[in-house]
Amino acid sequence: MENSLPLESPSLSRRQLLNFLTGAVVATTAGAVLYPVVEYVLPPAESGEDGAILAKDILGNPIPASQILAEAPGTRALVAGLAGDPTYLIVEENSCLNSMGIVNNCTHLGCTFPWNSVDQQFQCPCHGSRYSADGSVLRGPAPLPLKLVHVAVRNNQIWISPWTELDPRTQAQPWWV
Ligand code: FES
Repeated sequence: MENSLPLESPSLSRRQLLNFLTGAVVATTAGAVLYPVVEYVLPPAESGEDGAILAKDILGNPIPASQILAEAPGTRALVAGLAGDPTYLIVEENSCLNSMGIVNNCTHLGCTFPWNSVDQQFQCPCHGSRYSADGSVLRGPAPLPLKLVHVAVRNNQIWISPWTELDPRTQAQPWWV
């Protein structure tokens, strides 16, 4: 007995191919149209590679970069960073953020401190420590420079990630790693 399979007609194959291609075009078009809508509706992912997280405001909402960049150059903007640490972001002249953020946690006994724009220093109100603009100690009793984090802006989102390489101020391994 001859074991034969029905041969597919050439016209059926062409129809199947056309159906497939049409479906692919429709799916691609729908994806292209829907992607921006879905991206707008869904909240952004709040953590990324290398332990990065989105900078947030006091209510825990991600802060758009445009909001910080609307501030005058030289502004130190306070956001919630890694582990919720208050972190200073630095607005630069060319409407971008400095890639180095400074954690607002005095290395003496952990007080938070304001930026004094006249003196261009961070000045701790608890026991008088002073830090330069990059967080280096100018006056004790603070024993160590301020902790650094990386800052990056992508798609109007501000990402903060751990600083684990050499501290550029001391050329030494960071004390917080
Ligand atoms: Fe800042 Fe003591 S906690 S100087």
